[in-house]
Amino acid sequence: MDYVTLSNGVKVPQLGFGVFQIPPQNTKKAVEDAISAGYRHFDTAQAYYNESDVGQAIADSGIPREEFFITTKIWHSHHSYEDAKKACEESLEKLQTDYIDLYLIHQNIGDVFATWRAFEELYEEGKVKAIGVSNFTPARFTNLALNSKITPMVNQIEVNPFYQQDGIEEFYKKFDTKVEAWGPLAEGRDNIFKNPLLSKIAEYHDKSVAQVILRWLTQRGIIVFPKSVKVERMEENFNIFDFELTDGEMKEIKSLQTNEPIANIDTPEFVEMISNFK
Ligand SMILES: NC(=O)c1ccc[n+]([C@@H]2O[C@H](COP(=O)([O-])OP(=O)(O)OC[C@H]3O[C@@H](n4cnc5c(N)ncnc54)[C@H](OP(=O)(O)O)[C@@H]3O)[C@@H](O)[C@H]2O)c1
Repeated sequence: MDYVTLSNGVKVPQLGFGVFQIPPQNTKKAVEDAISAGYRHFDTAQAYYNESDVGQAIADSGIPREEFFITTKIWHSHHSYEDAKKACEESLEKLQTDYIDLYLIHQNIGDVFATWRAFEELYEEGKVKAIGVSNFTPARFTNLALNSKITPMVNQIEVNPFYQQDGIEEFYKKFDTKVEAWGPLAEGRDNIFKNPLLSKIAEYHDKSVAQVILRWLTQRGIIVFPKSVKVERMEENFNIFDFELTDGEMKEIKSLQTNEPIANIDTPEFVEMISNFK
């Protein structure tokens, strides 16, 4: 496993497992399978309604807590100083742990500044080992970073071959903030697993298209946590550190950019839609 070191020295396994859209009743089994496949980094959220199931699978594994890296996120309906503190306590309880490795503001909606003040205190109290945000555009990220005591250590954003966020690693370097990719496999859209260019590169390396995509992201220094409920895909996605894409292949993949995101976060329609989802 490769690791990415955050600005405060916390080490994040660069490859994890995401549990978005896994129904709560299936999450414990999926996390157990992922643990068996070797995953120790799990990405969940208050809004996924499966934190308890992630926590139960980890507790039942018999593996020491410190071997895991757990990320969860606060939903915007809890965006205030007091509610953020309460939401963190609830997540700690559901996850059956006394600390969260990485706590994120899930969406840039509502009073993110009051929420961030609470996050800074939770971090100083040691209840969370690292803090960050998700779905912040560079401009909104800059606003929060320049007006806070602690700069967010992570921004979790959509990055995949169709929405590449070219140059984003360089942009966040000046804040010493690490990028995490959600939807790394584009959630399977646009027939991505059959894409001719990715298939050609995969064949050359005797790997799958999913492995090529995950390798392309990790070679950019980005943290990934693909989701799958299928054991063979979990194993496949975990097995990406024994090959390397050439500079030429990294450049070729740039041609797949369509600039069409799964979630167009910088639009009034998106803000309205998310605001109504409480
Ligand atoms: N911060 C945010 O707003 C945000 C938003 C979205 C996601 N996330 C996080 O990012 C994680 C990953 O993103 P995601 O779940 O949206 O999508 P994703 O990982 O890009 O794609 C998941 C889809 O790909 C399929 N798949 C996985 N591995 C495969 C393989 N090797 N071959 C073929 N198909 C494969 C899965 O199907 P099967 O399950 O049937 O295998 C599923 O349909 C989430 O689980 C969540 O933790 C965060």
